[in-house]
Amino acid sequence: MSNVIVLGAQWGDEGKGKVVDLLAERFDIVARYQGGHNAGHTVFIGDRKFVLKLIPSGVLRPGVTAVIGNGVVIDLAALLQEMDALKAAGFDVTGQLRISNRAHVIFPFHRLVEKMSEARENRIPIGTTQRGIGPCYEDKTGRRGIRVADLFDPEAFRALYDTLAEDKRTLAETFKLHEPIDYAQIRHQTEQYAAQIRPLVCDTAKLLNGAIAQGKRVLFEGAQGTMLDVDHGTYPFVTSSSATAGGASTGTGVPPTKISGVIGVSKAYITRVGSGPFPTESDGAAGDLLRREGNEFGAVTGRPRRCGWFDVPLLGYTAMVNGFDTLMITKLDVLDQLEEIPVCVRYRLSGAETCEMPATYRALEAVEPVYETLPGWRCSTRGIDRFEKLPDRAKAYLRFLEERTGVEIGGVSTGPERNETIIRSGSRMERLLA
Ligand code: IMP
Repeated sequence: MSNVIVLGAQWGDEGKGKVVDLLAERFDIVARYQGGHNAGHTVFIGDRKFVLKLIPSGVLRPGVTAVIGNGVVIDLAALLQEMDALKAAGFDVTGQLRISNRAHVIFPFHRLVEKMSEARENRIPIGTTQRGIGPCYEDKTGRRGIRVADLFDPEAFRALYDTLAEDKRTLAETFKLHEPIDYAQIRHQTEQYAAQIRPLVCDTAKLLNGAIAQGKRVLFEGAQGTMLDVDHGTYPFVTSSSATAGGASTGTGVPPTKISGVIGVSKAYITRVGSGPFPTESDGAAGDLLRREGNEFGAVTGRPRRCGWFDVPLLGYTAMVNGFDTLMITKLDVLDQLEEIPVCVRYRLSGAETCEMPATYRALEAVEPVYETLPGWRCSTRGIDRFEKLPDRAKAYLRFLEERTGVEIGGVSTGPERNETIIRSGSRMERLLA
């Protein structure tokens, strides 16, 4: 029996959607544990492209139960829209989807609060996805948030909602934000949405633990990436949730003792959306090439992603805080045409060389990456499904990353489709998935 976490080893957008969709056929349940509709997991099935934001990617596998755990924040309108879009594409997910009664609800005024705080003078703009994610988590931690279960107790909901709305009204007035907001209409709409999702809501911690007790297997799907984790990421340029492996327990109610492995997903290079330090960023022609070849534009916001070279100290750090058993390296084929591939192997900071991740964004901005350059393979790796079939230089590149990060590369993605994937035989990845 093994229950496994799959999560991003960099700043998000590592290709977790495809990996989770691919692995889901070996599991009974796929559970999301944090984040909200700021995430964008892209999955290709044949020539059809699906962008899943809130619903776990495993839902596209018939028979797999998809759970939105208590650590997720839910915009009900976004959730219902996503369900409708999937239905229109032939996937009616109502039979498969279950929503935690303890998850917190995002309201339209959370977006307003976000706009206000991003625009404030002297505040560091984070470049968020503007989905109201941070303000909803603020209300959760401030113990004034509204949870899914509250929606089904009409009197309690009205009282909680009116108090929360009053808070936001006062804030908007204080900060002179004169956006018209119809609080009564939002409350009415929320009640309608709540009625629609009600059949899918349950105590998902009970559902998951009960399933595990019966020998069923759970795949935990992380959103965003380790360097966007509110504790371990490049604070304050982070999201507001626990994207690291520890979040899988708090965000679902499944204890760590029931989780047996962690798979890190990393691109063969690296990208970041939004502001914040990025030591190996390449903003010249090489960055443009990676963006073009890798189609590096945000799945949710369409923003061009910042692109750069593989960062060994960063991966070593994310491996430490998550305890990666094995790595899935994605988008190897994006590097196919390069003559040489630089890899950052250390940082230089205040005259000394280090592999440590500094705690402040200011220090990370100040580091100078030290590169080693590897030869490119200059031929197509697209669709290769066995490690042995890769060109020698591509194998050497992967072995170099493996040796320097100290983490096994158990899988490689060589294209967006399910079958364009290598799972190395004899690897820990293969054993975790067996
Ligand atoms: P928020 O999650 O909307 O609060 O945004 C905080 C930071 O996380 C911003 O830099 C976003 O660009 C980034 N972010 C949030 N979700 C994702 C994601 O799914 N992929 C990549 N970056 C993300």
